[in-house]
Amino acid sequence: MTAQLIDGKAVAARVRAEIKEEVARLKAERGITPGLAVVRVGEDPASKIYVTGKKKAAEEVGFNSWEHHPDETITQAELLALVHRLNEDPAVHGILVQLPLPKHLDADAIISAVKPEKDADGFHPMNAGNLLLGRPATRACTPYGVMRLLEEVGCNPAGKRAVVVGRSNIVGKPQALMLLQKDATVTVCHRKSDLPAEVAQADILVVAVGVPELVKGAWIKPGAVVIDVGMNRKADGKLVGDVEFAAAAERASFITPVPGGVGPMTIAMLMKNTLEAAQRAGK
Ligand code: GUN
Repeated sequence: MTAQLIDGKAVAARVRAEIKEEVARLKAERGITPGLAVVRVGEDPASKIYVTGKKKAAEEVGFNSWEHHPDETITQAELLALVHRLNEDPAVHGILVQLPLPKHLDADAIISAVKPEKDADGFHPMNAGNLLLGRPATRACTPYGVMRLLEEVGCNPAGKRAVVVGRSNIVGKPQALMLLQKDATVTVCHRKSDLPAEVAQADILVVAVGVPELVKGAWIKPGAVVIDVGMNRKADGKLVGDVEFAAAAERASFITPVPGGVGPMTIAMLMKNTLEAAQRAGK
């Protein structure tokens, strides 16, 4: 392997330590304890793992945290009522509704019901729109975490070719906008793209599609910085990303491992968004 590993776990621990210090200051100087309310509907097993990690991180940095865990039979009106209650609760600075929601619920309507200033995920259309316009916005946690990882390895996107594989509202689209804001030349790929040809152009490659080892090592431009957002469990139980790791690591200059790359950063940036919401609320 020639690439250096990007240790997301270590960077995330540093981000959380910075947050913990700020929380202590906020408590001491202004008597404010940031509060994060997490809503998990039903029994999606992956959601349970993610939410447990988020609650643990929140407690560790000194936040108040609450998990609301309605049954999967909750109606749209009942879930909206819960969101409205959290919107009005002054102890709650950040609200997160874990996705996916059961099929009978309208996730877009639920996300839009969260007050934009309490939208810890950065998924509200107001925040997504402000990001598009280059205005101050709460940023989606995963792409925000990726930007921090790039910074940590001294990778300045300005003037570089950045290729984002995947166009989800949660990662691909906001990632492209954040890279554009940092003056990268950005290409967004999807299922109709000529993936090998596009990937070969990338100085910075971010892959977020949820297809195990879709991106082949042989496609990677020598010296590229490779960020793998994927987390897939193979039939043999092994966790792999969306990039063929060993072969990509032969060509990349830096690469994120799976697990221990982007994943821990998502949670760290969620804490950052919640802290910033509490700092604003106290003003
Ligand atoms: N489901 C998968 N990733 C996320 C995330 O970052 N936030 C929420 N709320 N749900 C998710």
